[in-house]
Amino acid sequence: MIRFALAAALLVLAPASAAMSDDPLEARVERLLAEMTLAEKLGQLTVESNAPSGFEDALRSGAVGNVINFKDADETRRVEAFTAQTRLRIPMLRGLDVLQGYRTQFVVPLGQAASFDPDLNRRAAEAIAREAVAQGVNWTFAPMVDVSRDPRWGRVAEGAGEDPHLGSLMAAARVRGYRAGGLVVTAKHFVGYGAPEAGLDYAPADMSESTLRDLHLPPFRAAVAAGAESIMPAFNALNGIPATVNRRLLDGVLRREWGFAGFLVSDWGAIDQLGNHGIDPDLGAMARNALAAGVDVDMASTTFRTRLPAEIAAGRVPMAAVDAAVRRVLTVKLGARLDRRTVPSPEDAEAAMLTPATRALAVEMARRSTVLLKNDGGFVPLDGVRRMLLVGGMADSPDDHVGPHAALWRRSDVVTVRRAIEARAAVSGVAVEYRAGCAPDCTSEAGFAEAVAAADRADVVLAVLGEPGDMIGEAASRADPNLPGRQAALLERLVGTGKPVILVVMSGRPLILPTAAERVPAILAAWYPGTFGAIGLAEILFGDVAPSGRLPMTWPRHAGQIPIAHNRLRSGRPYEATEKFTSKYIDMETKPHFPFGHGLSTTTFAYAEPAVDRTEVATDGTVSVSVMVTNTGPHGGREIVQAYVRDVQASRVRPERSFKGMAAVDLAPGETRRVAIRLDVRALGFHDETGAYRVEPGRFRVFVGPSSEADLAVEFTTTGPAYEGPAPVPD
Ligand code: BGC
Repeated sequence: MIRFALAAALLVLAPASAAMSDDPLEARVERLLAEMTLAEKLGQLTVESNAPSGFEDALRSGAVGNVINFKDADETRRVEAFTAQTRLRIPMLRGLDVLQGYRTQFVVPLGQAASFDPDLNRRAAEAIAREAVAQGVNWTFAPMVDVSRDPRWGRVAEGAGEDPHLGSLMAAARVRGYRAGGLVVTAKHFVGYGAPEAGLDYAPADMSESTLRDLHLPPFRAAVAAGAESIMPAFNALNGIPATVNRRLLDGVLRREWGFAGFLVSDWGAIDQLGNHGIDPDLGAMARNALAAGVDVDMASTTFRTRLPAEIAAGRVPMAAVDAAVRRVLTVKLGARLDRRTVPSPEDAEAAMLTPATRALAVEMARRSTVLLKNDGGFVPLDGVRRMLLVGGMADSPDDHVGPHAALWRRSDVVTVRRAIEARAAVSGVAVEYRAGCAPDCTSEAGFAEAVAAADRADVVLAVLGEPGDMIGEAASRADPNLPGRQAALLERLVGTGKPVILVVMSGRPLILPTAAERVPAILAAWYPGTFGAIGLAEILFGDVAPSGRLPMTWPRHAGQIPIAHNRLRSGRPYEATEKFTSKYIDMETKPHFPFGHGLSTTTFAYAEPAVDRTEVATDGTVSVSVMVTNTGPHGGREIVQAYVRDVQASRVRPERSFKGMAAVDLAPGETRRVAIRLDVRALGFHDETGAYRVEPGRFRVFVGPSSEADLAVEFTTTGPAYEGPAPVPD
């Protein structure tokens, strides 16, 4: 207590540091640099978490200049107080994985992407950042912008799915939001981490230069263009080189090609894991190679601060390389005015948590990101229901409502699906009986009989099943991402009662649904709804809001289909249902269960008269594709109209179709509107094996409709010389 009081006093009394002056940023950085000892410099290139001993001394001396995992105002104040005791009083970066939420947990990022609404994602990121900043966190290791078409990889929950265009829009939106909320942003994991072999976390990825540049790099470029101050190289190796030492990508692509001026921070312990990759097992070499490749900050392996002094003394690492890295870190710190920020009091911090506006935004996110996958017979919204049976351990389990790295979430804050449904049902006079059936992991069938018996008394069964929260995120690859435990058997038993079953799937990835799901009339993907998202789900079920969420990732039918995505490359023998010698499986349906972009409304929409505003366009021009959309159903609703492009005449194989744009339209019953999507033709090109980008003259087909399986199409031709220049960053 005394120590805390002393530290707090120092915090207030701290005189202006060398960093604090009104000189131009560059001059302040240079002045600081000139004053720093080697140990202080390496401290700036280090981020560490609480260590059993010596940690406070390291903070006081400046040997550790940045911290990770100090979560709340008490903790951030405690570590910040040491800054005042350092010689130069350089502010610390206090980092934390602030992903889908801080105290208020939003829907997981993959679910947020299902809103197909970048601006909503921006606002969510800003609200999330404000909570974190109020507690003294000033740096987030987010957004994760890895593209992935492999639901076996547990980290898909943290990203925006399989598509580089949607991924770029979300990356930019999230970067802007976090920054507006006051966080320094690290986009991760550069690059190819989302394509590990066999979906196995940390496993190497191997891909062509074209695939790398067409699919995986664009969201990083969008994050950089949106102002991300920092990038984190991935844990894994790409084409044989661990990202941490991949000079061609870090220094070459990021810095030289894209002009990225921020700093690179290694992933946790990634530098001293270089030996495990079989690169050079000497710790000094690991530090030297990472720095040489372009890594500026060592997270949690201590190699920079312990090994670089000897490397420098031996002449193997030039001092200029260290200085350049320090310069980048200081420029971000002072540029973000971390030296001018006060560390909040715990009381002020608490007042900024769970505000009504943040809570409302979290509910809005759930309304907009819940995906109605199937609605045969129109069971959603519930109509004429008097008695509902709610089944599923996850429905009543707060732990299974939040995504990975849930920062300061509290169990007691969470409005569970059960609570939200019971509250909303009461308003409509619907009686809800709850029977778990089994625990979230559903390893025992002991409760099945009771749940099944209760179905007799109900008009409708709402089965909330999915993947418990500890089965997602990092180090949570699954060979078979299905409904775990005995959940498929439970669903089978419920369907067997003959009562209509509405299945709500809670997960952070596309799940492979059991055959019983074929006999379920309605299915919704609710992702992990977070602290308040279940309220939005209940509103959709009871018809207060029409769902409009769309899948940002394809849902396969079987693990054997993975990797699967709407934008896979074309074949010389494309799939034909009735032709044997075409690209298909002989033991099952080849198409996915639910395609990218899919999502129904509680009303219906009809599409007609697709058109383009011109049939010939320059390779660097724009073309507008439009279509008449009519609300043909009984309710008002929002339709997300989508455009997919196929290059029909190209010098290399292009995807079957690639998502290139969307437009949301709200239509009343019977209303018709022409909806237009503008396409930047410069974005319709590809990279060749040398990495050069171009849009060739030739024919393009645009599919426009409600999902990646849209069948209405129009064509246009690009004319004139090929566009050869950088691919545009979508905005
Ligand atoms: C993860 C990163 C994360 C870091 C710090 C690592 O294990 O791969 O995404 O930012 O830990 O928590």
